[in-house]
Amino acid sequence: MRLSCHVNGERRCADGVRARESLLFVLRERMGLPGSKNACEQGECGSCTVYLDGVPVCACLVPAGQARDRQVVTVEGLGDDGGLDLVQEAFVEAGVVQCGFCTPGFVVAAHDLVRRGYAPTEEEIREALAGNLCRCTGYEKIIDAVKLAVSRWWARSG
Ligand code: FES
Ligand code: FES
Repeated sequence: MRLSCHVNGERRCADGVRARESLLFVLRERMGLPGSKNACEQGECGSCTVYLDGVPVCACLVPAGQARDRQVVTVEGLGDDGGLDLVQEAFVEAGVVQCGFCTPGFVVAAHDLVRRGYAPTEEEIREALAGNLCRCTGYEKIIDAVKLAVSRWWARSG
């Protein structure tokens, strides 16, 4: 089948999509967007997190056909004009990335928290990121990065 949807603000089409293909597969293998990672393919790790119509989802669990004519935003589409988004900047500055496999999913999940525009407690940050797993960092630097992003968000919002 032909799949047509909006990805990172552009209309994108993919031909030959099979009925059981996931949105993650289509994004990575048919649309050339490898940012969302494929770690477990079972909805367990969050490394494939993308926005679908503004809601974070595990792209490995979404049949590609369900994205037809909908809005998808991947980690590649968060920043403006090819630059880094505020959350991506914070992840770099906090030194979060080790193997980096989990990072795109954490960035999208953290972005969803930060854009809500309130000051989450550490417990709320951990809860918001509970669907994302990291084998390397012990999570502390990830939490630091989210706190940094939240403080920057407040600074830039006025
Ligand atoms: S690859 Fe989708 S949740 Fe792990
Ligand atoms: S940095 Fe390696 S899994 Fe998170």
